[in-house]
Amino acid sequence: MMKTNLTNVMKNVKGEHLMKLSASILSADYLNLGKDIRRAGEAGCELLHLDIMDGHFVPNIAVGLCIVDALKNETGLRKDAHLMISNPEAMIEPTAEAGADSIIFHGEATPHHLRLIRDIKRLGKQAGIALTPETPIEMIRFALEEADIVLQVSVCVGFGGQKIIQQVYSKLAQLQEIKSRCGYAYEIQVDGGINAFTYRKAIECGADVLVAGSFLFGSEDMKKTVEEIKAGLL
Ligand code: DX5
Ligand code: ZN
Repeated sequence: MMKTNLTNVMKNVKGEHLMKLSASILSADYLNLGKDIRRAGEAGCELLHLDIMDGHFVPNIAVGLCIVDALKNETGLRKDAHLMISNPEAMIEPTAEAGADSIIFHGEATPHHLRLIRDIKRLGKQAGIALTPETPIEMIRFALEEADIVLQVSVCVGFGGQKIIQQVYSKLAQLQEIKSRCGYAYEIQVDGGINAFTYRKAIECGADVLVAGSFLFGSEDMKKTVEEIKAGLL
């Protein structure tokens, strides 16, 4: 496959990286979580992604707030809490108290998008809204102006290690188009199925942040993988 030149989308004119990598701890080694988190930071990941699941909104249970709390003083990386839960209203404050830096709830889980975004900001956190692959962007239209983050899940929600759903690329492009046309400021995150074969297209379509779990934690040399991704070499 011909590799396109990603310089323009990965770096700005000063040569600073625009694209960020977020390590999803769903695929970390829970017996050595502290070690794996340090590994992600040392490898050059800018963010940590914490998947909080309730066994109701998604058919899986993962990462409780005690884990978020345990990471409080363990890392300087930004901690994004991805709430894959029903009734997110009830968990905004506890998640903020546990030490998440940003709180991302699902647009499908509540009709009160703007209210939640404002509540999260009032708590001094970055506010994000997420969508499953199947949900049209139109559904979160009212949230886009005020959201700090829009997270597009790119696999069936709830599990790591799946293949990316191809139709998601055009949704990333659509989010990018709305953002530039309307002058919005949200960061576009893509979450799921990111690996050596998918990351380039995700960036080209508009993703600012690549969330990756199995690819990063499963790589033999995470630092090398991160460096190669950032250089567009993979
Ligand atoms: C899926 C989760 C993702 C997951 C991604 O519902 O939100 O964060 O950890 O895992 P990979 O990168 O393995 O697809
Ligand atoms: Zn996630």
